[in-house]
Amino acid sequence: MLEYNKKIKEYDLFVDYYDEVVRPYDNQLEEELFFLLDIFDEYNPEAKKLLECACWTGLILKWLSKKYKIKWLDLSDKMLNKAKKILPEEVLIQGDMTDFDLEEKFDIVLCNYNSICHLTDFSDWKKFFKQAYNHLNKDWILVFDINTLFEFNNLAESYMYSREVWENSDILCMEVKKTDYKNNKEINNHFYWDLRLFLNQWEDNYKLIRERVSENTFEIYKIKDALNKLFQIEEIIDFHNIELRPDSSRVYFVAKKKIDL
Ligand SMILES: C[S@@+](CC[C@H](N)C(=O)[O-])C[C@H]1O[C@@H](n2cnc3c(N)ncnc32)[C@H](O)[C@@H]1O
Repeated sequence: MLEYNKKIKEYDLFVDYYDEVVRPYDNQLEEELFFLLDIFDEYNPEAKKLLECACWTGLILKWLSKKYKIKWLDLSDKMLNKAKKILPEEVLIQGDMTDFDLEEKFDIVLCNYNSICHLTDFSDWKKFFKQAYNHLNKDWILVFDINTLFEFNNLAESYMYSREVWENSDILCMEVKKTDYKNNKEINNHFYWDLRLFLNQWEDNYKLIRERVSENTFEIYKIKDALNKLFQIEEIIDFHNIELRPDSSRVYFVAKKKIDL
């Protein structure tokens, strides 16, 4: 545990703001829930047990937990402490999705809201695929989504989002930068979200809370190649348009565990 706690830096500062101000900025929660339910019903209508990796406070899964028996895994002790207030402690697991062993299997493994992109080395994506494989029952499914390279490049070139939150002149600003901020240099496919929240303390005197969150993404062919070693890819879906296009921004992968390797 201590080892994980030392490792965590990203999202610590936004722990009290992520659910309320960052996650709902694109208002897609409900759409996402029904989208996921359709996938689960199509590919595994008998599913009963679901594991979400990199779940944060499980915004979507709170609803899905009415239908499935769910476990949540995340690296962040801050997330777990927050989630404990609303979820039974025994379903929350602190762990690294590239290296965990829960000694049980699930019917669905989910990694939602481009959380896999928080793994900045592709070798870690492969480790996650292996862990998902090990934790799946029979030939059941892994579902995850990414922000595409097209999307990150586009965001890094032109995106600056800001809005007032909580109706008291607090302001959220979000930008994407194409830099590995830890090493302060431009490296292929390394991006980070620059999140700034200006809290109005009194009479327009603001306190700034700033968090930088690294993300990385890879070409779809490269992800397919790695997945194909362990999974049969059932579908690659553009979340917004269904059909995959060169300018797809958010893409879901649905992959079925291969059983006779
Ligand atoms: C975008 S948030 C998760 C959003 C959530 N899945 C949702 O649908 O709202 C990314 C999460 O990834 C977690 N994370 C980052 N690296 C991780 C790792 N190696 N193992 C497990 N969780 C990790 C962070 O702690 C954070 O909670």
